[in-house]
Amino acid sequence: MTVTSAGTDESHIRPGEVQVPLPASADASLYFIGRIRTPWIARKDCPKNARVSRESGVVCTIEVDPRWAEALPGIETCSHLIVLYWMDRARRDLAVQMPTRAEAGRPTFTVRSPVRPNPIALSVVELRKVEGTRLEVVGLDCLDGTPLLDIKPYFATTDSIPDARAVSHAGRKG
Ligand SMILES: C[S@@+](CC[C@H](N)C(=O)[O-])C[C@H]1O[C@@H](n2cnc3c(N)ncnc32)[C@H](O)[C@@H]1O
Repeated sequence: MTVTSAGTDESHIRPGEVQVPLPASADASLYFIGRIRTPWIARKDCPKNARVSRESGVVCTIEVDPRWAEALPGIETCSHLIVLYWMDRARRDLAVQMPTRAEAGRPTFTVRSPVRPNPIALSVVELRKVEGTRLEVVGLDCLDGTPLLDIKPYFATTDSIPDARAVSHAGRKG
C-alpha cells in the first residue's frame, strides 16, 4: 500500500477504474488563502454536494488569512459567493473512477468528485455574516480544515444558465 501525504492510498484501484501516471513535476503553485471550518471530520458525514448542504442549512466558517483582509471590503454586500477550495485528501491520478452505486466507470471530467488531477472544488454559497476575516456561509460540502483557494462574487446574470444540459451517466444503481 502506498499512502501519500494527502493520506490517500494510490495503489488501490476498484474494478473499472483507470489510473494514470502523474507528471514528474507541477506546472504552477498555489497560495492557500485560508481554511474552511465545517462540522464534518469524516467523509461519510460530509454533504455530498452544495445542494444537499444548502438544504441542510448548516453554517460553515471561511477563515481568510488576515494578510488578505484588504481584499474583503464590500464582500458583505453580496448575497452569494463562489468559493474555490482544495480537496487536500483526494487522490489525483484517476482518469476513470467508480463512484459508489455506479455500474460503470465515470470519466473524471464528467463528475464533480474531489478525485481529479487538480483537486479544486467549487460551491456557490449564501453569505450570512462577515466578521473581520471570518465569513459565515451556507452551502459548503468539505471536511473541516479544507484549504481555501479563492472567493469570487456570484453574478446570477453571468453565472446562472437555468436551461443548461447536465451530463447523463448510464447505469446508476439505487
Ligand atoms: C462531490 S465533492 C463536490 C465538491 C464541490 N461542491 C464541487 O462540485 O466541486 C464533495 C465531496 O468531497 C469529499 N470531500 C470533502 N472535503 C474533502 C477534502 N478536503 N479532501 C477530499 N475529499 C473531500 C466529501 O466526500 C464530499 O461529500
